[in-house]
Amino acid sequence: MSDTRANKRFRSQEWFDNPNNPGMTALYVERYQNQEYTREELQGGHPVIGIAQTGSDLAPCNKIHVFLMDRIKAGIREAGGIPMEFPVHPIQETGKRPTAALDRNLAYLSLVEVLHGYPLDGVVLTTGCDKTTPAMLMGVATVDLPAIALNGGPMLDGWWQGKRAGSGTIVWESRRLLAEGKIDYEEFMSRVCSSAPSLGHCNTMGTASTMNAMAEALGMTLTGNAAIPAPFRERMAMAYQTGRRIVQMVLDDLKPSDIMTRQAFENAIVVNSAIGGSTNAPPHLQAVARHIGVDLNVQDWETIGFDVPLLVNMQPAGEYLGESFYRAGGVPAVMAELMQAGRLHGDVMTATGNSLAANLTGSKSLDHDVIKTYDAPMRQKAGFKVLSGNLFDSALMKTSVISADFRKRFLSEPGNEGVFEARAAVFEGPEDYHDRVNDPALGIDEKTILFIRGVGCVGYPGSAEVVNMQPPDALIKMGVNHLPTVGDGRQSGTSESPSILNASPEAVVGGGLAYLKTGDKVRLDLNAGRMDALVPEDEWQARIDAWTPPELVNQTPWQEIYRSNVGQLSNGGCLELATAYQKVGRNLPRDNH
Ligand code: FES
Ligand code: MG
Repeated sequence: MSDTRANKRFRSQEWFDNPNNPGMTALYVERYQNQEYTREELQGGHPVIGIAQTGSDLAPCNKIHVFLMDRIKAGIREAGGIPMEFPVHPIQETGKRPTAALDRNLAYLSLVEVLHGYPLDGVVLTTGCDKTTPAMLMGVATVDLPAIALNGGPMLDGWWQGKRAGSGTIVWESRRLLAEGKIDYEEFMSRVCSSAPSLGHCNTMGTASTMNAMAEALGMTLTGNAAIPAPFRERMAMAYQTGRRIVQMVLDDLKPSDIMTRQAFENAIVVNSAIGGSTNAPPHLQAVARHIGVDLNVQDWETIGFDVPLLVNMQPAGEYLGESFYRAGGVPAVMAELMQAGRLHGDVMTATGNSLAANLTGSKSLDHDVIKTYDAPMRQKAGFKVLSGNLFDSALMKTSVISADFRKRFLSEPGNEGVFEARAAVFEGPEDYHDRVNDPALGIDEKTILFIRGVGCVGYPGSAEVVNMQPPDALIKMGVNHLPTVGDGRQSGTSESPSILNASPEAVVGGGLAYLKTGDKVRLDLNAGRMDALVPEDEWQARIDAWTPPELVNQTPWQEIYRSNVGQLSNGGCLELATAYQKVGRNLPRDNH
């Protein structure tokens, strides 16, 4: 490895060691040397490494990073860097209302501002809970200073009465049992709490495990980072090695734009299908790609990812949880299998300083019950379908969770497989759904499609995970556990529902869902990739002409700023104006006094 420290001038030295402006340099040094740094080291030509701390009491999914911090700092110090931890605006999926999705762009903005405005040469991104990972990757995509991501890791496996209890997935299962009257509220609470036995993020292949697998697949982490459970000793070792590694990345000037190329995103899409990853990955990766200037679009998810087989037997698409996935080899084992099958670009550069192919040398599945071979997968063609029609320009469907029962009930009419026509029941957001779903007047039967609108980026605001609506209690008691559901919001990555999600453009900005009425007939054609309201064209046009946008009420200043700048889910849900700013870490800000 090349240590070029002797002939390198670091960005941070413009703050700490600038004899051309002694007044400013003295101001910068005096206040940092009053804590754990000496004047000699601040002026000694050491790279200053920021550590973006996403964990806190408010962000329990990432709290493990509070305890990993000593190991990260030790690694940075030992490699000759100066560590500086700083807080990130919390993004707790299960804590923030109206949705943590609203905060992804806020944390992104503040990370960009910190990395641009402070004396930092590189950064360790602590990741974990769903949106923390994309927010951090989006930030360094815009700034383009050397960066490496460190996951906190999933919780240990949860268990309930001898069965694995997976984060989120047990909620969806238990709320059906509650609706059927098979369990009471007390048991419902106990079952769900059993799924969270330790520090860490969701132990299912929900959005957190997915996005950390995406960070690893993109090449933005050390090899094997994603899957190590939070409490394991290997997690501490990974924290230390990540700290060591970022210092060398700064010395080598290995930047996000060297790693997150179009080919790296294609790799990530393939990996997402193979792990049965979350439907939240497309908007998040789209946002990262736009901020770094890589051309990606929602259709790429079907074109590149649909025909990839499902290899990982993990909830919600399968049966196991994070501990088993880690023991079976984690992301490197999955990628090695895909690489052998010729599905990955092996020559891409990664945060290790080596190519992906080199990183994967020796990796393989250690348990074929958990990580399958490419030739004997869980199921074939397990990626997303991207649908369009008069209800939306694009929406996603996760095919790896279409159960045999769902397929039989809705998609198996002889001679017409993959096609389904049914009556629509339309809800204006989750409150309306909860108020009316059990109302017999709505006439929801086992051939109804449930629609929800007003829950996208602008509508909610932030795009809520509310599309996986369960059928009315009466239908569940008859054994109908799923109805097709469609919406302009998202759903939890832990959901096993094959919903049609992320419909863009959303209803409140005039997308097609705005004109649908309860009782309309709707046709889903998976073969043609379409979903359409079967309403005569002149009537449809009359509804468009008569439509007025709903009044949106902001509860905080950020909601107003967000709503006036955010784009659609199909395009990453970015702050549109922010995508024009690139490589901002390469421009020095002006002095502050
Ligand atoms: Fe934080 Fe799932 S709620 S990782
Ligand atoms: Mg969620």
